[in-house]
Amino acid sequence: MVVGGPHVPAMESIPASAELSRFPRGSDLFVGRSDELDRLDAAVAGSGRAVVVAVHGLGGVGKSTLSARFVRLHADRYRLVWWITADSASAIDSGLADLATTLAPQTANLPSDQRTELAVRWLATHDGWLLVLDNLTTPAHAEELLERVRTGTIVITSRQASGWRGVKAIQLDVLSPSEAMELLSRVVRTEWPDADLPDVDRLCEELGWLPLAVEQAGAYLAQTRITPTAYLDLLRRYPARMFTTTVEGGDAQRTMARVWHITLDRLADTPSVGRLLRRLAWYAPEAIPRRLIITSAREPEPDVLEALGRLAAYNMITLDTHTIAVHRLVQAVTRTPDRPPPPTGGHHPRPRHHRCPPLPRPLPGRA
Ligand SMILES: Nc1ncnc2c1ncn2[C@@H]1O[C@H](COP(=O)(O)OP(=O)(O)OP(=O)(O)O)[C@@H](O)[C@H]1O
Ligand SMILES: [Mg+2]
Repeated sequence: MVVGGPHVPAMESIPASAELSRFPRGSDLFVGRSDELDRLDAAVAGSGRAVVVAVHGLGGVGKSTLSARFVRLHADRYRLVWWITADSASAIDSGLADLATTLAPQTANLPSDQRTELAVRWLATHDGWLLVLDNLTTPAHAEELLERVRTGTIVITSRQASGWRGVKAIQLDVLSPSEAMELLSRVVRTEWPDADLPDVDRLCEELGWLPLAVEQAGAYLAQTRITPTAYLDLLRRYPARMFTTTVEGGDAQRTMARVWHITLDRLADTPSVGRLLRRLAWYAPEAIPRRLIITSAREPEPDVLEALGRLAAYNMITLDTHTIAVHRLVQAVTRTPDRPPPPTGGHHPRPRHHRCPPLPRPLPGRA
């Protein structure tokens, strides 16, 4: 594209200014994550050349929140911080176009694609900046930008575990049990300061220590003035309802049932993926023997392996040489009849017990 003309500023001569930075203020109820913040800190500590770090993990595990925290803590190290909600190629372009207008207000009337180009040119000719590409759907959406920009620091958050060539990847896991309990208590006590929280540990365990679920459960407890014990009972009796409920003012797109919708849609082109996930949903969440899954599948082994690989690439499962782990809420939502439509049709039996009966242990060395 040709960028030029009387209204087009020379981007390389526009200085960075921290006052122009734009990033979210982050969660006021932020808990824990000191190790993860240290890991992110170590990863961005580059040698002055471009540093690109991808924080990846299951939907709702706290990637965006961690990155926002990091930015808030360390913004003063950078000459400019720019945060883009990067969930589509066009969202990235428009976030970059906004950067150009912020740096050079006289570009406001230029076409958006031209402003995007000017922002890339600015990034490529300056250093000392931090750019966050939040909620990136696929590494491919950042490829062109990463090819053209060889300075500065880029932090990416994405659900995608693989495909990060030349990028330092940090996998983010769920909260520790104590962090999850702390989050739940903080969320509840913001609105209900003298709440009594019996069974808070059991509830957090049932929610698999996933921050999104813990936060939503806390908001529900506060709004309805019920105890964690009563919430556990509701989860057992009405799982579908509880996974689709939002509290007043909550985001209906961020309920547990919906949050993995996009991921499942993206996986829909591999038909065996839906079938496999539905089968995995009925095992105990940890240490599911791979052999058992492969030998008992209707599909040939290469199809099962492909499906496993794709689920792992989207952080929906964790693969080991001998075992598979699935987050227990991914299982619960997959087992629940009112969950989002699966990638392929099929029957979903209603669980008789909310908790899965554990599998018999594999023979040592035979998993
Ligand atoms: N360390 C934390 N302390 C407090 N709240 C947290 C923490 N981590 C996550 N949360 C809360 O959990 C919810 C989910 O977090 P977040 O949006 O960061 O997840 P994500 O991994 O970016 O999800 P997605 O893949 O859908 O983008 C948020 O509402 C956030 O406030
Ligand atoms: Mg996010």
